[in-house]
Parts: sequence; C-alpha cells; structure tokens
Amino acid sequence: DIEQRISTLLGQLTLEEKIGQLTQYSGRQLTGPASSRKTELLASIRAGAVGSMLNVQGAAGTREVQAEAMKARVPIPLLFGLDVIHGYQTVFPIPLAEAASWDLVAIRESAHVAAREAAAAGQHWTFAPMVDVGRDPRWGRVMEGAGEDTYLGAQIARARVLGFQGEKLGGTDAIMACAKHFAAYGAATAGRDYNAVDMSEQQLWETYLPPFKAAVEAGAATFMNSFNTLNGVPATGNRYLQRDILKGQWNYQGFVVSDWGSIGEMVPWGYATTPADAAQKALAAGSDMDMESDAYRNTLAQSVKDGKADIAMVDDAVRRILRKKFELGLFDDPYRFSDLKREKKVLNDPQHRVAARQMARKSVVLLKNDQNTLPLAAPRKIALIGPLAKARRDLAGSWVVIADTSQITSVYDGLTRRAGKNTQVLYAKGCEVMGDSRAGFAQAVETARAADVVVLTVGETWDMSGEAKSRTDIQLPGVQQELFQALKATGKPVVVILMAGRPLIFNTIADQADAIVYGWWPGSEGGHALADVLFGDYNPSGKLPSTFPRAVGQIPLSYQQYNTGRPVTKPGDIRYKSAYIDAPNTPRYAFGHGLSYTSFKYANLRLSQPTLTTAQTVQVQLTVTNTGQVAGEEVVQLYVHDVVASLARPLKELKDFRKLSLRPGETQTVTFTIDQSKLAFYNQKLEWAAEPGEFQLLLGSASDDIRLASSLTLLP
Ligand code: IFM
Repeated sequence: DIEQRISTLLGQLTLEEKIGQLTQYSGRQLTGPASSRKTELLASIRAGAVGSMLNVQGAAGTREVQAEAMKARVPIPLLFGLDVIHGYQTVFPIPLAEAASWDLVAIRESAHVAAREAAAAGQHWTFAPMVDVGRDPRWGRVMEGAGEDTYLGAQIARARVLGFQGEKLGGTDAIMACAKHFAAYGAATAGRDYNAVDMSEQQLWETYLPPFKAAVEAGAATFMNSFNTLNGVPATGNRYLQRDILKGQWNYQGFVVSDWGSIGEMVPWGYATTPADAAQKALAAGSDMDMESDAYRNTLAQSVKDGKADIAMVDDAVRRILRKKFELGLFDDPYRFSDLKREKKVLNDPQHRVAARQMARKSVVLLKNDQNTLPLAAPRKIALIGPLAKARRDLAGSWVVIADTSQITSVYDGLTRRAGKNTQVLYAKGCEVMGDSRAGFAQAVETARAADVVVLTVGETWDMSGEAKSRTDIQLPGVQQELFQALKATGKPVVVILMAGRPLIFNTIADQADAIVYGWWPGSEGGHALADVLFGDYNPSGKLPSTFPRAVGQIPLSYQQYNTGRPVTKPGDIRYKSAYIDAPNTPRYAFGHGLSYTSFKYANLRLSQPTLTTAQTVQVQLTVTNTGQVAGEEVVQLYVHDVVASLARPLKELKDFRKLSLRPGETQTVTFTIDQSKLAFYNQKLEWAAEPGEFQLLLGSASDDIRLASSLTLLP
C-alpha cells in the first residue's frame, strides 16, 4: 500500500534529502547548451537535493533530466510542472474567455485536451486552474480566472480540475491540477499585482474561498499559495489559510507549492528577517514545496537541527509530495509520461484543433447588434481593418509557454477562408494597438469606402494582460477608437471585434458601432471561430463572466451591488444619493450579458410551494422558448436576493444556471431546486446559515435583464 511505501522511503532519507523533495527549480536551461547553472542544477538533482522541476520541456527533455534524478543515492522521480494555463500545443481561449461560455462540459474538455498534450510531452503537473475571483479589471491576471462570480467560479474550478486530472490520478492522459493562488490574490489593492489584501472574514469565506473549496472537493492534487498578504500576513506564511482552513477544516491531503520566490519575498514584505526565518514561517504555515526561493534548501536543515523548524512538519510535507509521485505511477515507471512517440501523435491530433474552435466560438460574446448587422448577409466586399486583423501571436494571449504561435489562425485567415469566391476581403491596418500614429487612417478609410461593411479588429496585444500586467487605465489603448470614428464617418456599417485579456472600456465604440463582438484572446482557432460567428455558422451564446465598467473610477464593480440606504430610484435623480455626479452607477455591460441571433421568451414561472423550512426544497420551474428564426443557446440565470437579514445582502447573487440549446419555436422547461444552501450566507459568527424571511428569486438572461421574479419565504 502507498502509505507503507512512503514510510519505508521516508526512513531511508537523510534530512537534506527530505528537504530536497520540498525544493523546486526552474529548468529551461537544463536541456539547452552547457552552462554553469546547468551543471550545478544537474549535480543537485543527482544529489537528491531537488524534488521537482518546472519549465523543463518535451518528452525528450524531461526524460533526460529524469535520468539524472534516478542516479541519486535514493532514486526518487522528479515531478515536472509547467504553466499549462489554456492549452499546451493547441491554444484554447484564455480562461476568462472560456468562462464566458458558461459551458462546463466544454471547459472540462478544454482542460482535458491540454492535459492530454502536456502529459504526452513529459509533464505531470499544471499550475492551473487559477480560481481567484477577480473583480478588478486593472489586475492583469483576471485573464486567467473565471471572472467575478463565486458560484460560476466554483463550478468552473471543478470542471477544470476534473478536466486536467480525470476522476483519479494515474492515467497518462491526465496531469495534476493546482488550485491557485491561495488565497484572495484577486483582491490585490487597486488592481496592482503582488499587492496587499485587506478584507473581512465574511468576504473571504463567502466570495473568495468557495472556488478553492470546490477544487478540493473535485480532488485537486495540489494548491499554490500566493504573493499577497491577507490582513497583514503573507499568504505563503499564513497558517490560518493553509493549516487551519485548507489542511484542517477541509482535510486536504494534497500538497501546497509556494508561488515563485514567495517564501523569500516574506523578507521584503517585512514579515521575516532572513530567508531562514521566512523558511521557518512558511513551513510552519503549511507551505510544502519551495518554488525557486532556495530558502528551504539553504536553511531548513540547519533550522531543524537548531530546533527552530519542526521535523514532523518536514516529514508531513515530504509525505504529501511522495504520495502524489506514487499516485502518478512514477515509482513504477519514472518515464511513463515522457514518451516521444505518444508526444508526436498526441500533439498532432487534429481533434484538438476542432475542440479549440468549438471552445473559441462558445467564448465569443455578442455585446451589441443593432438592426441585425450580424450575421453578415453575403457582402460582396468586406473591409477588414485594424491592428489585430492579421495578428497571430496576440490571439494566443499570455501564458503560452510551448505552443508554436505561427500555427494560430488570424481573423484575416478565418474571414478569407470562409468568404468564398463571391466575397472579397480588403485589408488595411489603420494603426497600431499602442502609440499615437494616425498615418494609416487615410488608407483604412479608403478601404472602408470601397466595401459594403467594415470589420474592425482592435484590442490589446498579448502582453498587455497577464501576470505583472496591471494597468491604471483600461481604455482601449492608443488611437484605436479614433480609427473607429474615422471609419464610422464613412457611413458604412461597422462591426467591431475586440480582442483582449480583460474587460476594456470603449465607450465611443459601445455608443456608435453597429455590432460588437468580444472575442477575448481566442487561441489557435480564433480566426476561424470569429468567422463562424460573423457569418452565422455559429450563433453566439457567450455571456459576460465579468462586469464591463463605463469608467475606471467605478472599479471595483460587480453585479453584486448593495441597495445602500440611499439608492438611486429614478435615473438621473442623484441628489444626496449613492451615486457619482459624472457617470451612472450602472456598468457599460452587465455580468451575464450576451446577445444571440435569435430571441428567447421566458414564461410560466411556478414554484412548487411558496414557503419552505430549512429541511425542505422548492422546485422553481419556468419555460424558455426560442422565438426567433435560427437555433440558439441560452444561459438561464437564477439570482437570489435575501431581502432583510442580520447582515445587509447584495441585491442579486447568482445561485444556479442552465445552458439550453433550442431550435426555432422550441420550448424547454427548466427546473431549479432551492434548498437552504442557496439561501445561506456567512453571518457575523462566520456560520453558514440561512435566516428565515423573504427571498426574491430572479430569473433572467443577464444580471440586468431579469425576465421573471417571485418571492419565497423561509419559515423559522
Ligand atoms: O504558476 C505561476 C504563478 O501563477 C505565478 N508565478 C509563477 C508561477 C510559475 O510560473
């Protein structure tokens, strides 16, 4: 049995070798040309001083490095980890884009394809999913998460963990998941990366922890802690988070890796005096593996000898890591993931591109479509304009470690392939994403004049969102909106495709464009997927997983608003009300918003009973009919409002949703079940409980498009 084998192995290790298991280095250089770093690292691996490597690439590379580990006095296979965030060779849309699909099956499949490719190329472990709730689009890492909502985020966390790992570790088409960043990283002050976080316990438990809990329940093999402090204590040195909550209350049996250098960073945070002090604090707090700080390796053995670090904690951390190596089958065959033939076959599997195209189409959000501008009605000439029209690398987005980005389809590729013989695609760049040159405007305008319709592709370059890519201003950069205005002035209909890693602000386009498609960073098949949407081969069904503000000053903005004591009850009547004098409170596009080429009618709301006790459940039923001309998908959203409670509650909280697929004229009945758990919240004693009283049930197509409502009473 595994536990017995771990004990035997542990008994054979010296203290230094145990600490080796807790040590992880990055090894891009390991398979490259000779260097002193390479020689030193390989020697450390042979000495049993390293337990895991990140960034070693490919079946051949991982095989070569694994062979060094197997030369150690007590041979223990290395774990190979990599940031497989949205695909390995086949690039899927960025995680935030995928969240816009609200399609848990497709999201799970996307993670599975990524895992299948990575596992064939020698990887055992991805540093994903990022399950941080993100409500501040200035924070560049919102691109890696599932958006602003806790309920949606928890469902997606589960889907991604299961997608990467399968039901049980051990298959060679699956890799370990890593739920990150534990915890509250998404609330970094002012959206500045690596910053401090200060939040109430209610907020922590209610908004930020549930996706992590969902990841534990789905079996996430590992967790990563984070760079931020939480109420003054760095997450990496946070015993409350890691020992009390994760390993205590949640009984988590996996291991926790630090973020890159985050153990050492407790020194500049002013929380530890030296790397040795930081290592002692991190271990005591429950950080099992040190990613790239060198703090465990250089100091922990001495701290144990000096009685400053607890050997029982070291042993527990080693056990947790060895357990995963056993579960992955590495002690049976350390090379089972590094298979050159499988790598070649799997990385060229054409089905993966098919899955990436489907996922990209489902991720597209149709924000606006005046006069049914879309789908394009067989135009003879399309003017494809904009700095992202022929871009490939940008469509992959950030966190693309391996993929060959020359294989990505651009919007130009997608449109020209789909357009056929009777439609001509004219092209002009117009301007760059950044910078203030308008030199290309004249040619762009001339191109627009020669066409029936303009398709303008604007947004962010791939390196403008992601880690360490916080922005104070999330307006569409450069002169891209000016280019739009110049094109609009031609009188031609203008369809705008926005591609970016975060919600952007683009008020002029929002006001004046004829149609707007938010494509995010759509990945390998982005160009094809966007052409599918533009030509109506796919009817868009994406819904925003994040609120799009009108102004930076509204941030942080989510749909979970409070009524306040002074709500604005009539638009414009803001005197001494909770409002801004220079902008409305409402977002530009609300959470859950997304249009379709068809329309849906919500009707026949029925509750099985108007009241319930804490032991009962209520069935909420409604019908949804496709009232348009084409087939389409709709995400039916259920929000709850606790009208009066011991703590003021948000006006809406998403509690369930269903994604339906309906033929024209088809009606489907949707049933939601309400029980206590959908009505509960963390009270002042931090108990998760539902309080008797009235609740509103709100059913709609978006958080600002509620179609049906009913009241429900929880009896004492
Ligand atoms: O996995 C990442 C993490 O999210 C941010 N810092 C670096 C890690 C490894 O690349």
